[in-house]
Amino acid sequence: MTEFDTVIRNAVVGTAADLFSADIGITGGVVTALGRNLGPARRDIDAAGRWVLPGGIDTHCHLDQPMRTGVTLADDFLSGTISAAHGGTTTIVPFAAQVHGSGVRAAVDDYHRRAAGKPVIDYAFHLIVSDPTEAVLRDELPGLIREGYTSFKIYMTYEMLKLNDRQIIAVLAVARREGALVMVHAENSDCIAWLTEQFEAAGQTAPYYHALSRPLAVEREGTHRAITMAEIVDVPILLVHVSGAEAVEQIRWAQGRGLRIYAETCPQYLVLTADDLKAPGFEGAKFVCSPPPRDAQSQQAVWNGLASGVFHTFSSDHSPFRFDDPAGKKRFGADAPFTKIPNGVPGIETRLPILLSEGVHQGRIDLATFVRLTATNPAKMYGLYPRKGTIAVGSDADVVIWDQDRDVTITNDMLHHNCDYTPYEGMRLRGWPAVVLSRGEVVVEEDKLLAEPGQGQFVRCDRPAVVRPRARTTAEPPVKR
Ligand code: URP
Ligand code: ZN
Ligand code: ZN
Repeated sequence: MTEFDTVIRNAVVGTAADLFSADIGITGGVVTALGRNLGPARRDIDAAGRWVLPGGIDTHCHLDQPMRTGVTLADDFLSGTISAAHGGTTTIVPFAAQVHGSGVRAAVDDYHRRAAGKPVIDYAFHLIVSDPTEAVLRDELPGLIREGYTSFKIYMTYEMLKLNDRQIIAVLAVARREGALVMVHAENSDCIAWLTEQFEAAGQTAPYYHALSRPLAVEREGTHRAITMAEIVDVPILLVHVSGAEAVEQIRWAQGRGLRIYAETCPQYLVLTADDLKAPGFEGAKFVCSPPPRDAQSQQAVWNGLASGVFHTFSSDHSPFRFDDPAGKKRFGADAPFTKIPNGVPGIETRLPILLSEGVHQGRIDLATFVRLTATNPAKMYGLYPRKGTIAVGSDADVVIWDQDRDVTITNDMLHHNCDYTPYEGMRLRGWPAVVLSRGEVVVEEDKLLAEPGQGQFVRCDRPAVVRPRARTTAEPPVKR
């Protein structure tokens, strides 16, 4: 009698804790057994000699997010998830962004419509809170948190998104009371504005000046201020897309004081530098993102932080704008000033292979750390664990069989996003996903897509364990209950 739907045999299974040999039995989309010589299955997959790891969870990516007039993100929920799946990601958590003057619930409804029938892998949503009105804080956020939207991003910069400190504190207080996680984009907006004016006045408007207008200190100050507000409110926060050595230092300092400060970084801060923005002509626009890529010293600080536990998640911040396109990087022409270049780089497919190759194979992190950063911690931070983020009996069978020694040179042609370039063109890597399973179904096999649009399911996030209120150690909370 057939016992399993699928058995992945002879796997070298890697989790955030262990590396062990086992067969993985899958029934009904769930891992139902781990053991030697599992019984018969309708389908056998031989993984002999291959690393079999939990599917990646990308908890920072932007898909089909409306932008300023005339600018369009290259990927929607179909192309974005196809690209993610080819790179070994089986769950994404993109953003449902509140539009100023409108509600957060309206944003959630809108993004569900945008996603309908498209994703090939599972997805949840973070919220972006850009207009924290009384109604949003009192009614909408608590209601949405209860319905499975348990994290929200706030910005300290960008005209249409940024919150002032008083607003940030109000959002943090809601997160504390309701058990949600706030993600913070930490850059000092006024410093950026002033520096930008100086560069503009001097006619220094090439893409490279984008990086100079957002120096380390801008991120360091925003990071410190966010940490301070989180300390005052007594709530954990997660600093997103951390790039600079000085911001890393602030986070390490806060963690050393026992504050619950979490942090995310991204591939662009490991393998790109600000010098990439100096590429000839307008080519530097391909690397314009915020915070900007830094220098070798910051890269090293980020690597150290990944290896030593300062960082908890490793995401793509996939924010793809086509280069040679009037709706993308060239919206305002091929010689537009840096202030007009849409911010963001693509990377949803290359995230895991870059970290595996540059991190694990280069000996900078071990395989358990790779799994922890790319799957287990993201699931824990955002309330998806243990359904997602590990290979264990009872977990969804979101599994990647890696061809861990495959020699790959990244070209945009081999990628599946809808962007016309990759910032990693020509980069040589070791390792690429061979077979990707989402809830037990093979969605990618040897570079071939086997999934249907709409096969991915929406997943509700629980309140993450990391945000559970703890006893106050200082005075009574200055938070209205
Ligand atoms: O430049 C970036 N990172 N664009 C995406 C939006 C954001 O702030 O994450
Ligand atoms: Zn951001
Ligand atoms: Zn982002």
